[in-house]
Amino acid sequence: MGLHSDATFVDYGCGKGRGLAVGILAGFRHLIGVEVSRDLATLAGRNLQALRARHPGVRIEIQTLDATRFQPPEGPLVVFLYNPFVGLTLERVVQRLAHHATRSPVHVVYINPRGRSAFLDHGFRQRVTWPDSQALILESGVVSETSQFRCLGHRLMNLSSSILEPGQILRQGAGLSSPVHGNRSAG
Ligand SMILES: C[S@@+](CC[C@H](N)C(=O)[O-])C[C@H]1O[C@@H](n2cnc3c(N)ncnc32)[C@H](O)[C@@H]1O
Repeated sequence: MGLHSDATFVDYGCGKGRGLAVGILAGFRHLIGVEVSRDLATLAGRNLQALRARHPGVRIEIQTLDATRFQPPEGPLVVFLYNPFVGLTLERVVQRLAHHATRSPVHVVYINPRGRSAFLDHGFRQRVTWPDSQALILESGVVSETSQFRCLGHRLMNLSSSILEPGQILRQGAGLSSPVHGNRSAG
């Protein structure tokens, strides 16, 4: 198997590209950033140039559109959310992801998860919770690699907290404290 080889990494609200940089460093081969602001999407493309050059086999797309209009590609997804939106926008995105999970597994790394109830209401299982609920890992669909994904989640969290600007690793390995099991369906 291999989440890294199969799964598409999607950063909803990719901003200047930091989450995508994290995804590249975590080993994903296909990454998509979705960003509503044209200026930020352009900046993300620019910020990721150096990392692109260092990872020539990696496909990175940045789509400038509202997250509710984004249609994820077929196959397993690893969704990265740095609290980009809540409310109706999140609800629509989660509905689409829940539908996607009827065909392929969907894993979500959610930092500052203000809208986690939207995921739980749509059948996502909470797998890992960081202390103070500063981040969560959720999943839906037929998932066979939970333990591998848990390791990946930790890596994403550590990388995410170690990058101040895309492509610029300031404190490799520094980061958030270790995760604890979620209180719903932990396993
Ligand atoms: C907190 S920033 C996260 C940036 C980046 N993912 C990171 O980890 O540093 C949230 C981003 O979501 C974007 N955003 C907000 N609403 C959006 C929407 N409806 N569709 C797409 N992007 C959106 C904002 O423009 C902003 O760039």
